[in-house]
Amino acid sequence: MELNKLSLSRSSSARKARTAEPDAGAPTSRQELHRLVDLLSDYECAHLYSAVSDIVTGERFWEGDSGLFYHEFIKLRHFRVAANAPTAPASGHDSFVPMSVTKSYHGSPRITLPPPQPLLAPLGPTLTNRRTRRDYRDTRLDLQQLSTLLGLACGVSATVAAYGFDCLPLRTFPSHGGLQSPEVYLGVRAVDGLTPGVYHYDPRGHGLDLIMDGDPSEQLSALAFGEEYVRLAQVVLLISGVYDRLRWKYGERSYRFLCTDVGFVGQNVCLVSEGLGLGACPVSGFAQGTAEQLIGIDGRSELAMLMLTVGVVDSATATVS
Ligand SMILES: Cc1cc2nc3c(=O)[nH]c(=O)nc-3n(C[C@H](O)[C@H](O)[C@H](O)COP(=O)(O)O)c2cc1C
Repeated sequence: MELNKLSLSRSSSARKARTAEPDAGAPTSRQELHRLVDLLSDYECAHLYSAVSDIVTGERFWEGDSGLFYHEFIKLRHFRVAANAPTAPASGHDSFVPMSVTKSYHGSPRITLPPPQPLLAPLGPTLTNRRTRRDYRDTRLDLQQLSTLLGLACGVSATVAAYGFDCLPLRTFPSHGGLQSPEVYLGVRAVDGLTPGVYHYDPRGHGLDLIMDGDPSEQLSALAFGEEYVRLAQVVLLISGVYDRLRWKYGERSYRFLCTDVGFVGQNVCLVSEGLGLGACPVSGFAQGTAEQLIGIDGRSELAMLMLTVGVVDSATATVS
């Protein structure tokens, strides 16, 4: 039995049994629960058993906290993974069932970036020297540096035959199912060779598509509740997560998966910035709804998840906030 059918039954008949005046002859909640359990398969019972045991023997620690509730909720929902997974193979290189793993802005002004350069900084010192840096100089970022940052932090690094495609792109960050839920948008204030504006990064073509013309630094700083370092950063990255890219395969667990996918991109940005001698700061403290409006996403199928400021820094001045 599908859990959503179970939920529906529970929300109608069992709730009625709990709240209404007891009808003579009406089943009690306990009797109703027994009846519903009898409808489950052995497989479903095995999963439900551990969840129900937790409830019976443990404290309901998730009540009143939607974060903990969500975590608990997705543990109970293992039954229907890939319920909507397509069964037929896709029929082209550039489309994906049910949707592409990369986003295109056809018709927008396009800037093709120079090829990324190799990063010479060794990994060990890059990891140990990495600090969050917010002390940006008022100067311009080199386009080559931006290209290397994007290409190494979130570009295409290989292709693979998967999901019925010969050439599904793979990226420099890992992602659940190889579905590449993160998308990268950039607010550009001061980069040589780029008009200030808001862009979307196209990893397949290693290019930028202009979404909004004009210096976005005041708007971006306002999104981050007026933070000055956000206004001064040469580039502000906004990382979204395309929920629908995961949802068809992973159901409600997709939100957890999306958060971790985005985290990998964030860490790549921090490490490549450090390796290039730039300063990066991840920023969760921003108004997500307004950010979604700025980059033109709906906040349902695609969600604003993380901001990162990147800029030119003088020295390794680390601060903790
Ligand atoms: C996901 C994430 C979100 C963060 N959000 C903010 C933020 O909103 N504002 C801020 O000033 N720093 C933010 N930081 C930076 C942390 O304050 C910083 O990583 C921490 O102080 C440790 O310093 P370190 O990165 O130099 O090791 C964030 C860090 C992470 C990983």
